[in-house]
Amino acid sequence: MTPLARKLARQLCDSGPMPFSSFMAAALYSAEGGYYASGGSRTGRAGDFFTSVSVGPVFGQIVAGECCEAWERMGRPTPFTLIEVGANDGQFALDVLRWAREERPDFLAALRYQIDEPLEEAVARQRKTLAEFAEQVTHDALGAAAQGCYFANELLDAIPFRRVRFVGGAWKELLVGWDEGFGWVEREPEDGALRRRLAWLGDDFAEGYTTEVAPAVASQVRIAADRLRQGYVFFADYGYAAADYYAAHRSSGTLRCYRAHRAHEDPFDAIGETDLTAHVDFSLAASAAVQAGCEVLGWVDQARFLTAAAAGMLRRMEGQGSPGSAWQRQFQMLTHPAHLGQKFHFLVLGKGVSALPALPSLRFARPAAVAELLADRFPRPSDAD
Ligand SMILES: C[S@@+](CC[C@H](N)C(=O)[O-])C[C@H]1O[C@@H](n2cnc3c(N)ncnc32)[C@H](O)[C@@H]1O
Repeated sequence: MTPLARKLARQLCDSGPMPFSSFMAAALYSAEGGYYASGGSRTGRAGDFFTSVSVGPVFGQIVAGECCEAWERMGRPTPFTLIEVGANDGQFALDVLRWAREERPDFLAALRYQIDEPLEEAVARQRKTLAEFAEQVTHDALGAAAQGCYFANELLDAIPFRRVRFVGGAWKELLVGWDEGFGWVEREPEDGALRRRLAWLGDDFAEGYTTEVAPAVASQVRIAADRLRQGYVFFADYGYAAADYYAAHRSSGTLRCYRAHRAHEDPFDAIGETDLTAHVDFSLAASAAVQAGCEVLGWVDQARFLTAAAAGMLRRMEGQGSPGSAWQRQFQMLTHPAHLGQKFHFLVLGKGVSALPALPSLRFARPAAVAELLADRFPRPSDAD
């Protein structure tokens, strides 16, 4: 048992069961051995899982180009703040800033790169990675709401969520308990935000249907909206619209654990040395955005988002010969449906930008996809008849 697991076991013995969200927060973010609070970068070949950022610099380059387009549409404000959350070791920021230095020094001159990072250990790693851009990068999240962009890749899937099960015609929350080992304990749901989401989901579920609900994702989206006075928010992640997320066939939810590129479903194995995640309920994220005063500009898969965003870049590259083979390999990995192209989606929000021309990345976005996300009631099977 890891030292963190021993500590959690003692806590459960002393104080009784806790929501899975509290267990997950400790397992990932506790200063005493939490997965993200200790050790190295966690992503890439030497880590536990790949992300679009760990594929190589092309992801950051294309998103940087899109932020530069946003800057131009907004009238080239200075400073233009790019806020990143979930920056891990700072690699995405480095890819963005290097692209700006090489391709758009005028954009770099206006750019202030703000990383919102609660983990001290991660701040130290980010400062080291970004030493060459010390003038542009800040970790001071307390400033006034900015003009610019907010970006987060695979943040929302790492936000602690609650687990629920449909039992005897009603929803129960699954708490984490201890009885000679970690295990699940059913309780009446007490948390107000959880109860509201469960009421919205209704009671047309099979006995034993188990899933996740993440009210903290809505809070994170509200925080993002508050960080900007004017600009664009990009959340890239894996997930579904609610109708798909809570489809009858997804009867054991989407909780996944990753360690050394092996996926499993036991969150009590190697606590503090394993990543815990669930797919994102993009409907919950989108409706929180609307309540926070944002417009949902698009919800589009990564293949379409990156292909549309990279079109100008590819045209320029063709003028200078073809893009290198490393660029092509990375682009294919990021956009191919069998790799990351369809599993990942971009949720794009706007604040105070409705009068501006659409961003290039949304060229292939379907308005119907946004309508599907924002459906005001959970579709029942009979709705589709
Ligand atoms: C799956 S990793 C993704 C890392 C990186 N964005 C990438 O794509 O390679 C999730 C990251 O989100 C961070 N994170 C989770 N909750 C956070 C929060 N509330 N504020 C800031 N970072 C958070 C974690 O520390 C971790 O670095």
